[in-house]
Amino acid sequence: MKILAIDQGTSSTRALAMAGEGSLRVLRQMQHRQILPQPGHVEHDPVELLRHVADCADAGGADLVALANQGESCLAWDALDGRAVSRVIVWQDDRTADVTRALQADGVAGEVMARAGLPLDPYFSASKLGWIMRHIPEAADLAQRGRLRLGTTDAWFRERLTGRFETDIATASRTSLMHLDHGEWDPTLCAIFGVPIDALPVITPSAGDLGRLPSGARLVASIVDQQAALFGHGCRVPGDAKVTLGTGAFVQALTTGPLRPAHPGPLPTVAWQLPGQPVRYALDGAVYSAAAAVNWARDLGLFQDFAAIGDFDAPAAIDRGLAFLPALTGLACPHWDRAARAGWFGLSLQTDRRDMMQALIEGVAMRVAETVRAMDAVQPLTALSVDGGMARNGYLLDFLAGLLRQPVHLADEVETTALGLIQMGHEVEGQTASAPSRRAAIQPDTQAAALADGRMRRFAAIREGLTAINRQIGPDTP
Ligand code: G3P
Repeated sequence: MKILAIDQGTSSTRALAMAGEGSLRVLRQMQHRQILPQPGHVEHDPVELLRHVADCADAGGADLVALANQGESCLAWDALDGRAVSRVIVWQDDRTADVTRALQADGVAGEVMARAGLPLDPYFSASKLGWIMRHIPEAADLAQRGRLRLGTTDAWFRERLTGRFETDIATASRTSLMHLDHGEWDPTLCAIFGVPIDALPVITPSAGDLGRLPSGARLVASIVDQQAALFGHGCRVPGDAKVTLGTGAFVQALTTGPLRPAHPGPLPTVAWQLPGQPVRYALDGAVYSAAAAVNWARDLGLFQDFAAIGDFDAPAAIDRGLAFLPALTGLACPHWDRAARAGWFGLSLQTDRRDMMQALIEGVAMRVAETVRAMDAVQPLTALSVDGGMARNGYLLDFLAGLLRQPVHLADEVETTALGLIQMGHEVEGQTASAPSRRAAIQPDTQAAALADGRMRRFAAIREGLTAINRQIGPDTP
């Protein structure tokens, strides 16, 4: 049976299928608009996304379809006619930073952490859905009449394409409305964020019989993209971890159960649930700006050619007292400081653009290393596999392997999300799917490994200094 993977991501929607010799081929790719109505607001057009998913589903005449969705992006629509009544509020959107700060001040952070396993941060869907209820009168009106649908984008696609108002348990675990241990919507969490529980979709396993698309193809998997990538990396046993170096850097590691770290650092999340099998859990840690920081620097004119920032002759910038904190949209794991801002530290008259870029690449690696190290402290990681556009940067991977003092495995198949979807589809159908092969590991350089702790300490000092200054002068300070 031919399986088509649809990867509905932040910047595009793509259809992929296995080509003859076992590698993936992109059959269709569609960009959608990034709507930025005001600072901090990031939106997508729900109808445009739906059209792209439907068009991708028609590519290649597949019998089976598996779908990956953006993590926390969410919207509202009318149950009766399927008309969206809000735009998709994208995971990057931080319009609810004041809401989560106010909830923090109200002292509910512990309650939210105990139930959802997540900190108060505008990243997660709950405060975004609460915003829709307070700011879109039609949503409140539809709720009164029992006609409101609230959900992440997967629930929107699935209801409109299969007629079933459902979401997968891994995506639901990213909303901050699901009780992590029970796998059900939690009335207390819904009340905290002002989200009517009756408007939320049914939570299903990540794969199985998920209905039929208009083309007649069966939907056999539907799961949040980072978790699909974790599956596609071949991570199957606790301690297996992956880093996707995309717009942001997304680190996940499989765990033995829903681990709750003593401090809100790496976050417990559902990895996936296959039909008839227990729920698998993972730790999750995001670095908000990875390739986003590199693209920003290119737009500023700091460099032109990506190949030029994959190698540097000069000693490491951090060893020369020069560092970049890539907190362009705040700091996520393990600091959870949305108001933090980026900056270079240690500039001198001798500093040139190349030095600044070297510091920027190192800054991304150090934020990833902070996240991986925080995870390793909760649950020892056995293997780390890397994918994403920035994984092509040799300097970054070498630097990261040095900081972690362990090999970093570069995924053989770059399309790990799609690969995970197809492997999940195979498992559901009882077909055997081999785990992806891994390229030769990037070994840590002995000298870099010896310098790792000092580098991390220096970076932490600069991060703490910059965030302390920002707390005093930043416009977001309450
Ligand atoms: O948590 C957000 C994540 O799911 C977005 O991934 O690949 O669409 O940028 P991507």
